[in-house]
Amino acid sequence: MAEVVAVWAVVVAAGSGERLGAEHPKAFVAFGDNPLVAASVSALDDHPGIDGIVLVVPAGWEERATFMVDDIGAGKVSIAIAGGASRSDSVALGVAEVPTDAVLILVHDAARPLVSAELIDRVLAGFYDGADGVIPALPIVDTVKRVDGAGRVVETVERADLCTVQTPQGFLADVLRRALAAPDRATGTDCASLVERIGGTVVTVEGDPRAIKITTRDDLRRAEELRDAD
Ligand code: CTP
Ligand code: MG
Repeated sequence: MAEVVAVWAVVVAAGSGERLGAEHPKAFVAFGDNPLVAASVSALDDHPGIDGIVLVVPAGWEERATFMVDDIGAGKVSIAIAGGASRSDSVALGVAEVPTDAVLILVHDAARPLVSAELIDRVLAGFYDGADGVIPALPIVDTVKRVDGAGRVVETVERADLCTVQTPQGFLADVLRRALAAPDRATGTDCASLVERIGGTVVTVEGDPRAIKITTRDDLRRAEELRDAD
């Protein structure tokens, strides 16, 4: 009898990491003893609520990704495939590899290696009747300004109703698949925005200040410090 698989994760790691400016794509720069992407794959693989994982890597890195998966013993990874030109394209290619019996899909950026079991718990627990998506959010601490092209302040934006969001972002699988079918999907910088566009209800849960996104060299150092501070 076929195994009942309900929750899958798609780890997107197919970006080039231009702003990091390393020799390798960002997901394959060293983070401790392993490539950066290994930290996210391990965290999801270790979580009892996740049944399977699809890994999306830059074209030409599939084999190395498979070695990495074997190396860390991430038995839930079903496949490592090449991504696309935009993040949304990479997500769509990954989601296409998720079995159709999956009920929920978590999409996670490899650029956030410090994803914790608690954060995954909160996203999974955040689903209630009527929610199409659950995303981790953090309050904004800085004052926020809108500026024009010349750098002149146009207005100070009310901060109270703004937040920044992280991954993993969880979605009902059928809603995510519909959202990703949009022809203009490449303009969405996260999956939630695509679900919002088709009228989906996305709710927030408490994010994790430690789960920073690595964009620059400084971020990489900071993430290493945070990891080692455990
Ligand atoms: N990503 C992807 N496919 C793309 C672009 C991005 O899978 N075509 C993934 C990245 O690997 C990353 C996440 O989406 O895990 C968030 O993207 P970002 O932090 O912007 O990473 P990069 O695009 O690699 O970095 P940069 O924009 O500096 O080139
Ligand atoms: Mg990018």
